[in-house]
Amino acid sequence: MAKSAIRTQVGIVGAGPAGLLLSHLLHLAGIDSIVLESRSRQYVEERVRAGLLEQGSVETLTEAGVADRLHREGLVHHGIELRYDGIGHRIPLTDLTGRVVTIYGQQEVVKDLIASRLAAGAHRDHAPILFEVEDVAVHDVTGDTPRITFRHAGEDSEIQCDFIGGCDGFHGVCRPSIPELRIYERAYPFGWLGILSRSRPVSEELIYARHTDGFALATMRSNTVSRLYLQCAPDEDLALWPDDRIWAELHKRLGCGEELEEGEIFQKGVTPMKSFVCETMRHGRLFLAGDAAHIVPPTGAKGMNLAIADIRVLARGLERFYGQQDTELLERYAETCLRRVWKGQRFSWWMTSMLHLFGANDPFEHKVQVAELDYVCHSKAAMTTLAENYVGLPFEV
Ligand code: APR
Ligand code: PHB
Repeated sequence: MAKSAIRTQVGIVGAGPAGLLLSHLLHLAGIDSIVLESRSRQYVEERVRAGLLEQGSVETLTEAGVADRLHREGLVHHGIELRYDGIGHRIPLTDLTGRVVTIYGQQEVVKDLIASRLAAGAHRDHAPILFEVEDVAVHDVTGDTPRITFRHAGEDSEIQCDFIGGCDGFHGVCRPSIPELRIYERAYPFGWLGILSRSRPVSEELIYARHTDGFALATMRSNTVSRLYLQCAPDEDLALWPDDRIWAELHKRLGCGEELEEGEIFQKGVTPMKSFVCETMRHGRLFLAGDAAHIVPPTGAKGMNLAIADIRVLARGLERFYGQQDTELLERYAETCLRRVWKGQRFSWWMTSMLHLFGANDPFEHKVQVAELDYVCHSKAAMTTLAENYVGLPFEV
């Protein structure tokens, strides 16, 4: 079958927060791109993920002009609660750092970015995003004219570009196309069972609870929708978790009475937990960003924020290349991103280690975790350390 070829400056694989924000920031800089996404628009707009934005992420989206709804609907938080031995301790994030975090579902960020890209309209005769593409493969990335081949609407096609943004998440095709990868990883012996429920949040702020039967987190999406998580086995069978069991476990682990309202559960899922860093974030003209390059356990709420931080660095590097024919920022891309990525990894691993049950009947683990929580909740230095990482470390200058 004849191949149709499309020419663009940057070919982007993946329409998650990373790929969409890259395309949008490039558009603002007058750089043409196309995003290829294997799923449908509806699927990516409805996929339930985490939903906590650092202040720097909100500022990035605001400066990019895609945060009107985020400012209307996002819930601004000034503190979180750590609960252990049945007692809650507030960490006053804003008093300690002067900064806030915002609750706004990742799929809402995705919806806003898709709407904005589509509203910008077709450019140079091609649509800004192609959904439901198949058989995506990247080629010639070590030369000056990389290509992406794919099938769309039954037709074989090819994108010819100057650079490729590998924003296709952990299970994408871009990372495995690189011949040698430097990888660091750690699997955890647990996952999170997450639900969405039509019920008011337990409290105005998030509650991270350590319990001898496992971790629980109470967060929210709005004043009428709660998002609740329970530590579970990494391959937990949801069939073993009827609603009654979920509510009983949440009541016990969060130490809640009536304030935990049992609403209709309209979404349930299990996420295994891992820490993963691929330090090879660049191969020739292919740049990996977001989950394609790194995964964090969700305890530190860093996943989407690290993706946004990578894209800031990549978009700036590409702008410098097209504006001044200067490749220096692109050459330093991996090194610049990895400094932040490893701090996000460390924080996510630390929060995870402090709050989860690793092995049953391990009294030493129990005592050390409680001692650590006691220290964090009673030392201003320690709680400031938690707070400044949680609200987001400063971006690279
Ligand atoms: N071709 C095209 N698209 C692909 C392919 C492929 N071969 N493989 C995967 N994709 C798409 C996925 O369907 C998804 O929409 O790439 C997109 C990757 O998006 P995300 O997984 O959301 O990753 P990213 O944009 O890096 O955002 C990171 O996602 O998992 C969370 O915690 C993580 O919050 C973080 C955020
Ligand atoms: C969420 O709101 O989904 C959320 C918040 C904080 C986390 C993880 C998930 O640490």
